[in-house]
Amino acid sequence: MIPERAYPTHPIVGVSVVVFNDGKILVVRRGREPRKGRWSLPGGVVELGETVRDAARREIREECHIEIEIERALDVLDRIFKDPDGRVQYHYVLVILLARYKSGELHADSDIEAAEWADIHDLARYDLPDEQQQLIAQARAPLYSSEAAKILAQRERTDARRAQRIHVVLERVGQAQSLLDIGCGSGEYLRAAAKLGIPRLVGIDESPERLRQAQANCPHAELHLARADKLTFVDQSFDVVLAAQVLHEIALFGQPGDLERTLSEISRVLKSGGRLIALDHLDPGPERVRVRLPQRVRAQLDYFVQRYQLRKITLEECPDGTLWLSRRDLQDFVTKTWAFGTAIEDLEMRETHCPFDREKIEALLSKARLTLCEWLTFEEISEDLAEHGIELVEGASWPRKFLLIARS
Ligand SMILES: C[S@@+](CC[C@H](N)C(=O)[O-])C[C@H]1O[C@@H](n2cnc3c(N)ncnc32)[C@H](O)[C@@H]1O
Repeated sequence: MIPERAYPTHPIVGVSVVVFNDGKILVVRRGREPRKGRWSLPGGVVELGETVRDAARREIREECHIEIEIERALDVLDRIFKDPDGRVQYHYVLVILLARYKSGELHADSDIEAAEWADIHDLARYDLPDEQQQLIAQARAPLYSSEAAKILAQRERTDARRAQRIHVVLERVGQAQSLLDIGCGSGEYLRAAAKLGIPRLVGIDESPERLRQAQANCPHAELHLARADKLTFVDQSFDVVLAAQVLHEIALFGQPGDLERTLSEISRVLKSGGRLIALDHLDPGPERVRVRLPQRVRAQLDYFVQRYQLRKITLEECPDGTLWLSRRDLQDFVTKTWAFGTAIEDLEMRETHCPFDREKIEALLSKARLTLCEWLTFEEISEDLAEHGIELVEGASWPRKFLLIARS
């Protein structure tokens, strides 16, 4: 039995859920006090004998007719409302969970007046309580859901050039006593670093599923669920910080300022003279090249042109069947075909593999008081073109990755 909600004799345990669905958040207009008729995160009261997570799933099923997948607990909030006489009219202890939409068609039921998917950039019009707005800003669901993390791990296992990449990075780690891997993903760099005998290996990632993979790959690494822009380590903790193919995700999917905050956190946790080793995609610039594609690949390119969200892909057809397109467009195309038809396709279509050039990176590093010491470019695009059977008719191949070492 649920105790009286108004003027309760004890605090009532409630649950609120930040449900993400492709850049949108589930909000409901409350049908009962407190804040009747106002927008809020969905949720309700935990029933006797019910777990908080079950209560969250049940409430959202009853109120909104959808199923959710719970990722993790975000916070605990006290909601205490007093009446004009100073008596406690409502007292909730609210557990806030982060979840993802799984299935079902949204419609309002039970004790709510309306339910909507609110664009995360347009939350102001819902006038959510301040503390809920802060929670949403902090929460932002991890980029990779459980399913997406599995697909990415599978891709990583079959990526022919990955072993070479890990080798290039690990060669530069040297005699470190401590290494922090930011966005460690499935932990393959940590596993390779363990073979170097580095005593302290730490990995952080924002995705619980990816951390589970890292745990299996490198059981003796210390792993933390955390965001790169909020590191929980004390100053000067590590000899080496590694950031392999994560900076572009922070730049593209983080909040404004996350990349700058991440680099400043890296600088803070590096020991004096410690090194950041970063590997990421390199922007080949807007220059155009002329290519000839096999028919099957041409059909894939047409599909890519339709699906890619980040910018308009422009093709110029030549009478001899060849095509002009920018190096950026070609690089994003050939490095993303693997994701077509997978649960990760939407995400890949909102991301670019041309995020940084050296100038941009140097400016970011210097803002974080990190000094660039080594800059290496590698992985020729010609290898990707060959894999796709694409002939480069005009223009030369270019490297599509960089590796840098910066000192604090
Ligand atoms: C492309 S994967 C690379 C994984 C690994 N470094 C590698 O190269 O194998 C990027 C990883 O960074 C994580 N990530 C993305 N943004 C993050 C952030 N702001 N904080 C922590 N991890 C993040 C993702 O969950 C993902 O596991």
